[in-house]
Amino acid sequence: MPGYAVIGAQWGDEGKGKVIDLLASSFDVVARYQGGPNAGHTVKVAGKIFRLHHVPSGILNPRAVCVIGNGVVLDPESFQSEIKELQGSGIDLTGRLFVSSRAHVILPEHVRRDAAAEDGGGRIGTTRRGVGPCYEAKAGRRGIRVEDLLDPERLRARLAVALGEPPTRSVMEPLQSFGAFLRPQVADTTDLLNRRLDEGARVMFEGAQGTLLDVDHGTYPFVTSSNAFAGGICNGLGVGPTRVDGVLGVMKAYSTRVGEGPLPTELTDATGDRLRERGREFGTTTGRPRRCGWFDAVIAGYSARLNHLDAVALTLLDVLDTFETIRVCTSYRHRGKVLAGLPPASWELGEVEPVYTDVPGWMQETSGARRFEELPENTRRFVATLEAAVGREVALVSVGAERERAILRPGSKLDQWLPDLAPRLH
Ligand code: GDP
Ligand code: IMO
Ligand code: MG
Repeated sequence: MPGYAVIGAQWGDEGKGKVIDLLASSFDVVARYQGGPNAGHTVKVAGKIFRLHHVPSGILNPRAVCVIGNGVVLDPESFQSEIKELQGSGIDLTGRLFVSSRAHVILPEHVRRDAAAEDGGGRIGTTRRGVGPCYEAKAGRRGIRVEDLLDPERLRARLAVALGEPPTRSVMEPLQSFGAFLRPQVADTTDLLNRRLDEGARVMFEGAQGTLLDVDHGTYPFVTSSNAFAGGICNGLGVGPTRVDGVLGVMKAYSTRVGEGPLPTELTDATGDRLRERGREFGTTTGRPRRCGWFDAVIAGYSARLNHLDAVALTLLDVLDTFETIRVCTSYRHRGKVLAGLPPASWELGEVEPVYTDVPGWMQETSGARRFEELPENTRRFVATLEAAVGREVALVSVGAERERAILRPGSKLDQWLPDLAPRLH
């Protein structure tokens, strides 16, 4: 099992950082394939909280080499402060972090355009980090790549194309200094990854955002501007599809989304507020309150099929500990009819009404459980309801933000693939 993907199966913030950090010790390489400073991955280790935006969540495992692939977009300022923060926390990055020479760079112009679009009509509720305009420039062939930063003449010429006028010193200088900062880490990461895979290294492909935020397969236009689903791995890293041997979908035990766009199970009442408070559902990147609702198995099932998920990591289960009844959306009603799956047009998702299956809550703390049998019966029943509705096995359950607060299902696909994981957890 050399190539393994861990991706978000909902609207982002599923707890990918926590899961990836936990699994990272079983891997030689952890590689990010898309997204940039819009991502916010929280990893809590030994009481310390790390918030990662560009850097793979595998970085806290000292053994793993981390790769930022060509599909990622880098914000110079935010990337440099992220690196300095990691170094300040004693994380040694020497020889452990490689950045693709083909990754694109976010310009101040992109950030301005992102904000202007948000303040004008057609609000998406973006993170205002310039991510969308940077990917637009890439597709429009007027982007600036990391490799361009390393040669002043090349940079000047490319900036003239990007900006439609010769760059001023105030534009050139920070980019040149970013180039100097990055230089020791710049690599042909496609070659690096393919070589390591040929040698039998275990490589994790780390997703940012989530499947429903994918520019093609998500709730367009309320999406991010990259392919966050498993298909994005190939173009975002330069690896062929047969390199991906397994896909783990991270799902939280309820639904959240930040920004605009349909969220069929959204709760705008006190129950939604309770989910937000208990789950501390405030954005890692922007601090915005996340919209909250019950678990949507229609969306999760869609995600499972689209990504061809092998297994599910179910996170934030402990957040539901105090709810007397827990609802799971198992189908939608649309214009008076119950649908078999999603409505035909993606925008009609904004018109559906959820049909719920109610599961009794367990009203008990779960964060201390380390084995599945230690979970209350109703918790196990809830997990079984999700598995039946989504059509995939829950291989890993997370019951707290800390690395060790996790339960691996013995004999699950994940357990078979990563035989060294179970001994680490028990
Ligand atoms: P990501 O973007 O998918 O990595 O997720 P975020 O880091 O944006 O948001 C997930 C939040 O939930 C973070 O604050 C995590 O520390 C926290 N978290 C992750 N797993 C669990 C869990 O099982 N239980 C609880 N209570 N918190 C969790
Ligand atoms: P992680 O990796 C949740 C959302 C924004 C907005 C839309 C477009 O932490 O799961 P963008 O700035 O990308 O153009 O915004 O996508 N969004 C995220 N929501 N988690 C994320 O990342 C997100 N990255 C972008 O809120 O709705
Ligand atoms: Mg996040």
